[in-house]
Amino acid sequence: MSIDFLSRRSFVAGTTAGAAALTLGLPRRLLAAPPGPLVLEARPGTAQLLTTEEPATAIWGYQGGAPGPLIRARQGDEVAVTLTNRLEVPTTIHWHGIRIENAMDGVAHLTQAPVQPGERFDYRFTVPDAGTFWYHPHVHGSGPQVDRGLSGLLIVDEATPPDVDHDVVLQFDDWRIGQDGQIDTASIGNLHDAAHAGRLGNVLTVNGKDFETVAAKAGDRVRLRVVSSCNARILQLGFGDLDPWIVALDGQPVAPHRLGAGPLILGPAQRVDLIADVVGEPGGRFPIAEVSGEPFEATAIVLDAGEGSAPRADPPPALSANPVSVPSAKPERTVDLVMSGGAMAFLQEARFEGEVLDGRTLATEHGLVWALNGVAGMPEKPLFSARIGEPVAVRMVNDTLFPHSMHVHGHHFVIYDDAGAPLPGLRDTVTVDPRAETTIGLIADNPGKWMIHCHMLEHQAAGMETWFEVLI
Ligand code: C2O
Ligand code: CU
Repeated sequence: MSIDFLSRRSFVAGTTAGAAALTLGLPRRLLAAPPGPLVLEARPGTAQLLTTEEPATAIWGYQGGAPGPLIRARQGDEVAVTLTNRLEVPTTIHWHGIRIENAMDGVAHLTQAPVQPGERFDYRFTVPDAGTFWYHPHVHGSGPQVDRGLSGLLIVDEATPPDVDHDVVLQFDDWRIGQDGQIDTASIGNLHDAAHAGRLGNVLTVNGKDFETVAAKAGDRVRLRVVSSCNARILQLGFGDLDPWIVALDGQPVAPHRLGAGPLILGPAQRVDLIADVVGEPGGRFPIAEVSGEPFEATAIVLDAGEGSAPRADPPPALSANPVSVPSAKPERTVDLVMSGGAMAFLQEARFEGEVLDGRTLATEHGLVWALNGVAGMPEKPLFSARIGEPVAVRMVNDTLFPHSMHVHGHHFVIYDDAGAPLPGLRDTVTVDPRAETTIGLIADNPGKWMIHCHMLEHQAAGMETWFEVLI
């Protein structure tokens, strides 16, 4: 059974209006001291995901909380994090979207050994790009770990941050919660979900809470760092009258442009940075709602009752560029990546660990229902090997009846339109529609072994994963 609607289990109108508005302004460090070493403990804990009248939910989280600590660094800093595993299962941390040194990418069995219960691992890496990134486990079957709450944000500040009055994070997550207010663990690993849209939740949280209120004054300029850590849901966010500018995609700056009528669409793992001028009457509010079904208000910017100030006259300037290179023209070398399988288009057969198996055996004995280029699960050979600096296009062909949000590790990429011209902005994750194809281009400039996989984590676990290597 899949629950595909979002509910606030006991929505109390005015809960937030009465409560003191919470400021999400993030302190900006005055000195360029590198952060950490921070010890992140992956362990069981509890979180108040539901309204305060309802029980706390048992979760797994970094420091026992969901989301985990917000890690903040400056562009070029070294980040030092020690992961301590206090779970009963192996884990790792992947730093999603960071163009990181391969040994620090956190992919179990590809870039490091999984961190066993009771063990620790030192992550030390520099952050080349400013932007909005996040972290989460990356072991086989990390879906359940992310789903239970293991994730957090890593924000890298620009040397010269844009002129805003508030810098706010909005981390969206959906959870599958049972009548008892606890995570529905019985359905974790359910093959039916894996063969369909993935594990969709029935409760939406922002920053681990039922509702998030952002306090501002009329006329303020607000930066919103919108992040999806949903396992499977493609979010559609409506901003009402706000009409924010989009200033970054997946952590990388893009020429500021208005969202327009929206909605803002965010596949699993994607991020969008927005800047908005909250022009309104004192005491007014700007709701932000998930609108893929019945509009569901998840957060709001609430204006102070006091007098505001005149909004800025100019649109926000572009964020300072990051040192990323991508091919502007479509590279000649094009690698095909064909997605197949899933409900209503079940695999006839696929390769698994070097053997061709029929679809039924793959599903019943190995929990595999998807394939990339006819291989279910990690192939022994890479999708491609590139020389360092080589431009490569990957033509992603979705031969299934579901959308897939494909993530590339260690690199950002450009997306080409049908005429082969690059679309504005860079991404590390792109949603490919059912029965459609998308061609991306990257410069393979980060040596090592890197995954490409569907970030609908149940799809990944059920076969949609591969890797490529960049040779020095
Ligand atoms: Cu966000 Cu391969 O991961
Ligand atoms: Cu998928």
